[in-house]
Amino acid sequence: MPSTHLKQRAANVFQDVCGYPATTFVQAPGRVNLIGEHTDYNDGFVMPCAIDYQAVIACAKRDDGVIRLISVDYDHIQDSFVVNQEIKPTEDKLWANYMRGVVHFLKEKGYSLGGADIAITGNVPLGSGLSSSAALEVVTGQAMKALYELDVTQSDLALIGQASEHNFAGCKCGIMDQMISACGEKGHALLLDCRSLETKSVHIPEGVSIMIVNSNVTHSLVDGAYNALREQCEEASRLLGKVALRDATLAELGASSIKKGSDVYKRAHHVISENERTVACADALIAGDLQKVGEYMYASHASMRDDFEITVPEIDYIVEVLTEALGNKGGARMTGGGFGGCCVALMPTEMVPQVQAAIEAKYQAKTGIKESIYICTPQNGAGVI
Ligand code: GLA
Repeated sequence: MPSTHLKQRAANVFQDVCGYPATTFVQAPGRVNLIGEHTDYNDGFVMPCAIDYQAVIACAKRDDGVIRLISVDYDHIQDSFVVNQEIKPTEDKLWANYMRGVVHFLKEKGYSLGGADIAITGNVPLGSGLSSSAALEVVTGQAMKALYELDVTQSDLALIGQASEHNFAGCKCGIMDQMISACGEKGHALLLDCRSLETKSVHIPEGVSIMIVNSNVTHSLVDGAYNALREQCEEASRLLGKVALRDATLAELGASSIKKGSDVYKRAHHVISENERTVACADALIAGDLQKVGEYMYASHASMRDDFEITVPEIDYIVEVLTEALGNKGGARMTGGGFGGCCVALMPTEMVPQVQAAIEAKYQAKTGIKESIYICTPQNGAGVI
């Protein structure tokens, strides 16, 4: 759905509930990660792009210091709190916590805020590895930035979104999702150095399409599996005597005291090799060498399946079908945190119909679950609409 529809929907509900029209509209996109999985919180490299699925807010200032959140998509449920009192997570409205956290951390960083009416809608599929939660965080920050003319950079909005996710939602995520939602660039993926937050734009060559296949097996990163993986990576880097796995090589891992084949060894093996693949894959994409890009993507998937152990049979099957259909003309892998969600494939545009047909013919027949397929083009990051 184009953002104009989301904007209209948010505007209508805002008017109905608040009884006056919204003054300001902002959006923040979800993302698909082309390569570089679970490398972000290891200070490594990722290469996501923002997609044409977004969170959209219609809002206006209030002069009584109250912030009222209105969920357009969940029966207009509301949450409200006072901006200059202590802001805490709620027990029952989990969606609101992501937004509360953003307001809390904006305040904590010293930005001066007032009240607001905020109607939120969106079409990023939930729990699918396309970063619906980062879109929600970033769009909230963007709304406060627009309403109160805050002098806050897009990278700082991303960091504030991440702080909200850590402290108000309980997921110790990296910085990839919030950064790409805040800073994405139309027509490009971003090679992001998650240590320095430097970005390099990587143009998606003409004639190359990005396909997302949603397994419709959903996950929840808040459930602890993600945090446990992060701890194993930190354990590996401690044992290697490094600040982060970003600083380690495969040779150092091989020569270390970490037992080959142990969980900690395998997690580190994935992260160290994935970092190398991500940087090399960006170079291959810049050179327009889709065959090489494909090799790195397939290798990334195998590493997530065998070393990081975050794929599920449905996801492995989608990648198998995509690999069969694409051969060395493109590449495919799981994208996102894992345990379900989506796969991403890069391919020559003329192959889209046949690849789509292969998935449609096989996935549901094998798993009993109907997939969703999105062809997406990289979009700009968050902003006023
Ligand atoms: C989730 C997290 C990100 C990143 C990915 C895995 O999307 O929010 O920070 O760690 O998983 O690459």
